[in-house]
Amino acid sequence: MRECFSFDPEYINMNHGSYGSLPSPVAEAIKPYYALAEANPDLFHRFTSIDLIRNVRERMAKFIGAAHAEEVVFVPNASHGLNTILRDFTWNEGDIICSCNTSYKSISTTAQYISDIPPHPENAQFSILFPTSHTKIIQDWRAYLQSLNETRAQSARELGRRPKIVAIIDSIISVPGALLPWKEMVKICKEEDVWSVVDGAHSIGQEPDLNLAEADPDFWVTNCHKWLYAKRSCALLYVPKRNQHIIKASFPTSHAYISPEKRDVLNFVEQFEWNGTIDFVPYISASCALDFRAWLGGEHVINAYCHRIALEGGKRLAQILGTEIIDEGQDFQFTLNMVNVAVPFPPTMSSDFEIDMAFRRKLLIKKKIYPAFFYHNGKWWTRCSAQVWSQVEDFEFLGEAILEACKEIVREFGDGSEEKAIREIGKEVENLTLKI
Ligand SMILES: Cc1ncc(COP(=O)(O)O)c(C=O)c1O
Repeated sequence: MRECFSFDPEYINMNHGSYGSLPSPVAEAIKPYYALAEANPDLFHRFTSIDLIRNVRERMAKFIGAAHAEEVVFVPNASHGLNTILRDFTWNEGDIICSCNTSYKSISTTAQYISDIPPHPENAQFSILFPTSHTKIIQDWRAYLQSLNETRAQSARELGRRPKIVAIIDSIISVPGALLPWKEMVKICKEEDVWSVVDGAHSIGQEPDLNLAEADPDFWVTNCHKWLYAKRSCALLYVPKRNQHIIKASFPTSHAYISPEKRDVLNFVEQFEWNGTIDFVPYISASCALDFRAWLGGEHVINAYCHRIALEGGKRLAQILGTEIIDEGQDFQFTLNMVNVAVPFPPTMSSDFEIDMAFRRKLLIKKKIYPAFFYHNGKWWTRCSAQVWSQVEDFEFLGEAILEACKEIVREFGDGSEEKAIREIGKEVENLTLKI
């Protein structure tokens, strides 16, 4: 399978989850579209690409189980799609925007930004701390939304109107790479009268049999350039017809924008067809990616392999490192194709970004192997992505490389207790200096 990708032969890619990887057959399949775009840019942009993308959009809508093709549009990436939704709400005083401690950083900062500008909706945060279980998350989520509802009731009494609550839910968290019970969380949102915005950046291509009509989130976004193998800058924004009035304008605003009071029909799709010149071929590549995936054996075959390697490789890695997989006590219910294994650091190791940077230098640059690293609930973890090219041996090689890197990092950055000692020495020096 490695031959189907254009990796540096010396590089072992264990971080497909961050940027995706374009298969060479997909890269080949999109070349004719680049040729068309350059053969006659006007013809391509004014006619050809519009028809092509409409067809791909219809195919993608079926693939994710949307009830109508007009509920799905392309956007360049998940950040773009989620920002479009969150900024298109008309925010009022007393509203609540809720993300999680595990939300993708730039999405929780989007929530923070929205709360920072008038009319300053409240920025609330639901906490998920691993190790945990789907059952606990579901229970906690219900209790948390009920507590937000109490706050809302209080505000409603004061304001004389009922504020809204908008919740951002990951389908699969970025770090830890973990499947959440998002469909149940969406259901609870409905029961508690809370808008659900699902960040499904990692869903398409990793979660087979998506059926959005059935899961029925209020909004949902996914990256096709991650697990689906499309070219980078290809994502889907799903907005059921009942909520399209919320998306007043695409971002950036399109030629097709009509002021809501003058709009007699929904023109959601038209607004996203042309809202600034970009490379439109990545959108077309989603269809080429689906063809390639069918050739590989289809969604279930691909994901069964990746999942098996994530589990077997993760267990082998944990054995080499002498640590554990984040959800091994929960029957691996959070693990799809990304597995999270604890890094063997002393418990006092600092959570500094410098540690992450050191792993990048030591593994990505020096050893040419790289999974993601993150700090969660008092510990460093590595998130390894399993893909069709992955094998358990990659996890074994990684294990040795991590052990070596850890030794060096502990030496370079101290294990926390050393840091504390250095701080104490620093204080003593300061005291001495003051006395002098
Ligand atoms: C959960 C999640 N949300 C959003 C994003 C942002 O994706 P993009 O950079 O393609 O906008 C990522 C990227 O890794 C992610 O993991």
